[in-house]
Amino acid sequence: MSYPITSVRSAFELTGKTFIVTGGAQGIGFAIAHAICEMGGNVAIWDIQPSPANPHAYAALSSQFGAKTVYIQSDVSKQAGIQDAFEKTMREFGTVDGVVPAAGIAIDKPFIEQTWDEYNRIQDINVRGTFFTVQLVAKHLIESKKKGSILLIASQSAHIALPGYRMAAYNASKGAVAMLNKVLGVELAPHGIRVNSISPGFVDSDMTRNVRETKSKREGEQMWMAPPNQRLSTQNDLTGAAVYLLSDASVHTTSADIAITGGLHAGTIDGLISYEASEADGLN
Ligand SMILES: NC(=O)c1ccc[n+]([C@@H]2O[C@H](COP(=O)([O-])OP(=O)(O)OC[C@H]3O[C@@H](n4cnc5c(N)ncnc54)[C@H](O)[C@@H]3O)[C@@H](O)[C@H]2O)c1
Repeated sequence: MSYPITSVRSAFELTGKTFIVTGGAQGIGFAIAHAICEMGGNVAIWDIQPSPANPHAYAALSSQFGAKTVYIQSDVSKQAGIQDAFEKTMREFGTVDGVVPAAGIAIDKPFIEQTWDEYNRIQDINVRGTFFTVQLVAKHLIESKKKGSILLIASQSAHIALPGYRMAAYNASKGAVAMLNKVLGVELAPHGIRVNSISPGFVDSDMTRNVRETKSKREGEQMWMAPPNQRLSTQNDLTGAAVYLLSDASVHTTSADIAITGGLHAGTIDGLISYEASEADGLN
């Protein structure tokens, strides 16, 4: 038996669809929001920052692509914060088709020095924020008897120890996101809700720039020395996969993860796992 071949180009369109993007004031979240709008969709951006990092780029989502957008200041680690943001989003759009919980923070510090408060803050935002934001959206989709797509932002840190970096609390948080990707994809499948993730490698962003500032030269350079493709990722390396996973092009894909690491999840060419390079080693 053969099936009629359908249009692949139109399957990638997001026309008329609305997605919540948390952490969308800048960085990866904003790049994904931009991609959604370019493909015809609308976005509700939630972020702890009072306004988008680049107001002109945010305004261009409407002026350039004709997207409907709303920006809501919200702390995803607070129950009242996400509830309030969700209600505001519903007032603006009436419904949503999915969510990209991209809000996240990282820390690079020896395991034995990471504090209770640092650990809690990372889990509160990266895990609990993701968990309950997705829960609000899933509840809405189920009640509306509507299909949807959820794109989680995991990380290479969910799969490997990063060359030159010590991020145990962050690794644990992204490991949790990677597991949520599996269980939620399975549990929500009967409702027509797909859940997938991307696992970015080292992406040039405020997050990685901040982390790199605390490192030796040699450790910092692991970000582009270690990946087989031998460069830092950019947000643009992620948006094609994001559009694919949010759109009907991936209609039969759920609980999948796409590693976008320049090959680092598979191995390294020149990368060295070195934490303690010092001037005495002549390596800085
Ligand atoms: N940069 C990387 O190399 C990399 C790699 C893998 C995964 N990621 C993940 O990608 C996501 C985006 O990171 P990025 O690199 O764009 O970093 P970024 O720091 O540029 O952006 C993170 C955004 O999250 C927002 N945010 C932080 N705490 C928040 C809170 N409590 N409530 C709401 N918003 C909050 C910030 O204001 C910021 O706009 C994160 O989940 C991160 O873990 C990043």
